[in-house]
Amino acid sequence: MQAVRVMNVRREVWPKPLTRRVLTIANQKGGVGKTTTTVNVAMALAQHGLNVLVIDLDPQGNASTALGVAHAVGTPGTYDVLLGSDALRDVQVPVEAAPSLYCVPATIDLAGADIELASQVAREYRLKRAIASYDFDVDYILIDCPPALGLLTLNALVAGEEILIPIQCEYYALEGLAQLLNTVELVKSQLNAELEVSSVLLTMYDSRTKLADQVADEVRRHFGPKVLKSVIPRNVRVSEAPGFGQTVMTYDAGSRGAIGYLEAARELAERGRPADAAPAEHAAAPAAPDHATSDQFGPDGTQEGQS
Ligand SMILES: Nc1ncnc2c1ncn2[C@@H]1O[C@H](COP(=O)(O)OP(=O)(O)OP(=O)(O)O)[C@@H](O)[C@H]1O
Ligand SMILES: [Mg+2]
Repeated sequence: MQAVRVMNVRREVWPKPLTRRVLTIANQKGGVGKTTTTVNVAMALAQHGLNVLVIDLDPQGNASTALGVAHAVGTPGTYDVLLGSDALRDVQVPVEAAPSLYCVPATIDLAGADIELASQVAREYRLKRAIASYDFDVDYILIDCPPALGLLTLNALVAGEEILIPIQCEYYALEGLAQLLNTVELVKSQLNAELEVSSVLLTMYDSRTKLADQVADEVRRHFGPKVLKSVIPRNVRVSEAPGFGQTVMTYDAGSRGAIGYLEAARELAERGRPADAAPAEHAAAPAAPDHATSDQFGPDGTQEGQS
């Protein structure tokens, strides 16, 4: 029954955004489902007629692994874009499982990028510039961030206009969120006035526990309609998929995890960019200061006072 539903859904073509959407998937808390969300939403969008680029910005290279893309040391990828002169287009790799999905792989070289970037000119704008000159025809760019608020994540926050925050329905789920939101506000006021938290996704939801419901309620109270209606259940097929170099969308399309991500991706596509849906509100957003600086960020680009 479930498989039939998925097959029917797959015949749909989801709406293309008016212009390319750049979504940063961020939460400095580790293991909350950032990578899983990035690759599965990307695959779902690609399976529904949209052209998608995933930028793996995490030295762990988990998004590259899940998309079946090589990322051994020496593979050209995100590092060469941020610290060399490679264009995104030159280092992107087609994902075998979906003809309209590409990935810029991350190698372990990226582990030193925070320190290497610190002494560079316009260190926060490297990714933004690379994306601005990326002329490949994609509808979505999804950026998978590492679990830290260092220069790599800062580059993503400056480059994108929308943030998608995955929140795990577990103890301490909201821990650190204030720090993330504070960083977002700082970036917004100094480096990227367009930035906004557009969506929050509840991940690894276990319907058998009261705690999951409590966390979900609290997140919905705090973020209101930004929280996607679709919730991703905890599902073993989701965690098995990367071991086969796959997303759960291709590994087991009928699984509860795949259906959850399918619904979440559809919701994202149908909602569109918040700025397109509410132009009046967008126009009223505070403008960037004339002299945007990164003074409030420390020498390594992270917010000062942040551990
Ligand atoms: N819905 C789910 N059901 C079961 N396991 C899941 C689910 N979502 C994610 N996982 C597993 O939880 C772990 C953490 O997920 P993931 O790697 O996506 O988190 P992350 O936020 O990207 O982590 P990091 O901060 O290290 O980058 C992985 O082993 C993943 O396979
Ligand atoms: Mg990850």
